[in-house]
Amino acid sequence: MYSEKVMDHFQNPRNVGEIENASGVGTVGNAKCGDIMRIYLDIDDNGVIQDCKFKTFGCGAAVATSSMATELVKGKTVQEALLVTNKAVMEALDGLPPVKVHCSLLAEEGIHAALWDYAEKNGISIIPMLNTPGHMDALFSAMSELNVGSSRTTSKMRLTDDAQVNFVKALQQKYIDYFAKQGSKYYNLAADEYSFSALSDSEYTAFATYVNAIAKMVKGAGMTPMCYNDGINYSGKTTSVAFDTDILVCYWAQKENYASVAELSEAGFTIV
Ligand code: FES
Repeated sequence: MYSEKVMDHFQNPRNVGEIENASGVGTVGNAKCGDIMRIYLDIDDNGVIQDCKFKTFGCGAAVATSSMATELVKGKTVQEALLVTNKAVMEALDGLPPVKVHCSLLAEEGIHAALWDYAEKNGISIIPMLNTPGHMDALFSAMSELNVGSSRTTSKMRLTDDAQVNFVKALQQKYIDYFAKQGSKYYNLAADEYSFSALSDSEYTAFATYVNAIAKMVKGAGMTPMCYNDGINYSGKTTSVAFDTDILVCYWAQKENYASVAELSEAGFTIV
């Protein structure tokens, strides 16, 4: 049932213990099984993880995945450690039985929670971003595999396809809830480069409706929504549905058809 590597890391776990005055500490738990994991990180001035220890009260797979996760992040930079996913932990352990996949998720979350604590202690704020309804190639390949909605040929969501929209909203909600729980104050819903010149008035209205809906979800979680400037009041369009002016506008690009900083300010937006 378990690979030799899983058994080895369960019976001889690496890096068990605590780090005094750790740079970051993360504690996570799984409400269903009741298992708890705490990860300690010692990060030097160059952002390199010099040491990593853990304490886990849980099943054998939770111990093995914590052990492997600590091994994987040691010696890595903070940025590299952020890319250590539960999939990487499982692969390094030569796999886990399906019912134990959630144990590896706990390891990933524990590392992320410790990195988050490190960021906060160093005055770094994290602004999460999930870019929709354009730039969605990665999400679309997942949707194709899951058979969600109609087929598509571009990286843009069809805002008239309820199945796609509902799937993406549910996904956004998961990220919104996760980052709100982590203490994020802002959430970037991005919404950039949605081929505005090709959008009819009704399509542009659907876009504004969608942006406002995601912003509402962000506000409902207690965070401030922000997005990029290029889609907001594009080419003077305000549509029958106006964009909510409490969405912070992150001004990243200036082009002929993009509303200027002055125009957006005049319309009531705050620019960052
Ligand atoms: Fe819950 Fe393993 S059974 S973490």
